[in-house]
Amino acid sequence: MPKVTDPQDTPGEPAERARAGLRAAFGREPATLARAPGRVNLIGEHTDYNDGFVLPMAIDRSAAVAVAPNTEDRCRVVALDCGGEAASFEGCGRNASTPLWARYAEGVVSLLRARGVGVPMFDAALASSVPPGGGLSSSAAVEVAFAVALCSLAGETLDPMSLARLCQRAEHEFARVPCGMMDQLASVFGRRGHALLIDCRTVEVRPVPIDQARVSVLVVDSGVRHELASGEYAKRRRECERAVAELAQHDAAVRSLRDATEEAIERARLEPTLRRRALHVLRENARTLEAARLLEAGDAPGVGRLMLESHASLRDDYEVSCSEVDALVEIAATTQGVFGARMTGGGFGGCVVALVEPRHVEAAGSAIVDKYRLRVGARARWMVVKAADGARVAVG
Ligand code: GLA
Repeated sequence: MPKVTDPQDTPGEPAERARAGLRAAFGREPATLARAPGRVNLIGEHTDYNDGFVLPMAIDRSAAVAVAPNTEDRCRVVALDCGGEAASFEGCGRNASTPLWARYAEGVVSLLRARGVGVPMFDAALASSVPPGGGLSSSAAVEVAFAVALCSLAGETLDPMSLARLCQRAEHEFARVPCGMMDQLASVFGRRGHALLIDCRTVEVRPVPIDQARVSVLVVDSGVRHELASGEYAKRRRECERAVAELAQHDAAVRSLRDATEEAIERARLEPTLRRRALHVLRENARTLEAARLLEAGDAPGVGRLMLESHASLRDDYEVSCSEVDALVEIAATTQGVFGARMTGGGFGGCVVALVEPRHVEAAGSAIVDKYRLRVGARARWMVVKAADGARVAVG
């Protein structure tokens, strides 16, 4: 896997590293260079695959892909954050021997070709400043960067929604992660200075301004990556589907947890685990809509309170947190200038996101990692992120 970039180090401009990497590995200049951001989710966790609401923002950390067509019978890719590891594939289906990091690229190539986009064989270099596996959508950034670069290389355009959906399919079918749509949508539709309120049923994306004079976004990476993450993610999805099936027996209009009410959940007498999962989704949807309203109104303390409630619900009802991340949230909540904090992304480790008063944000970052080291005995890393634009072609 790519090595974790230390957020306190200057990450280097991934686009420049990708360009230099293509030159070093293949002696080529890029015909196209594209970059796509990671994202941090402010609130609305485990709601996207339940037709619910999410409030992510694309961040100023991205994956960049430099590509040039080749005359080989294979696509060749080097990953600069994997110590320059190389992989190659034909790009017409899934290949068991393709390393995990390259499957995102293989998936995107195969799915683009399957829909008739004439992607030629190519050489590519990939660089990223999104910490891998930490809940900041490092994989969506890679998929979207490849999709944008390869459409440009093929001289074709795909509408942004189809592009995001194709990348989500690549993740399902090639990386075997049954993710929702939030990450790819955020990476495609990100808007500088804005979070995105996404209705995952209608796929309406509404930019919500973030007043940077009032609020900074701090991300703290616990450094913890629990193995069970992807298995538990799939399990949660199945639990939600079971809850919907039971609720639908009482009311055929319930097609997803989005349609349920607390009364309906109590009436259906769901088994305790399913009941807690369903209640989390329902309440998280309500919190997300409210948080978007408060963010727009400049009420950072109000958003912060909702973030803390969201975390408690993810910890107790949805059970996707872990002790290290709980410790980080507790520490953050009592640190000067912090309005609120919560786990972000799929869970079982990874990052915490906090809203912080701008004048305190750097001191808060340092104080949180210091207290975490004393309490947990491990090294966390912090970074201040800004809401950034979505994927773009930089050259081509
Ligand atoms: C992962 C998935 C997303 C979403 C989150 C949880 O990041 O990729 O689709 O389900 O988990 O909110």
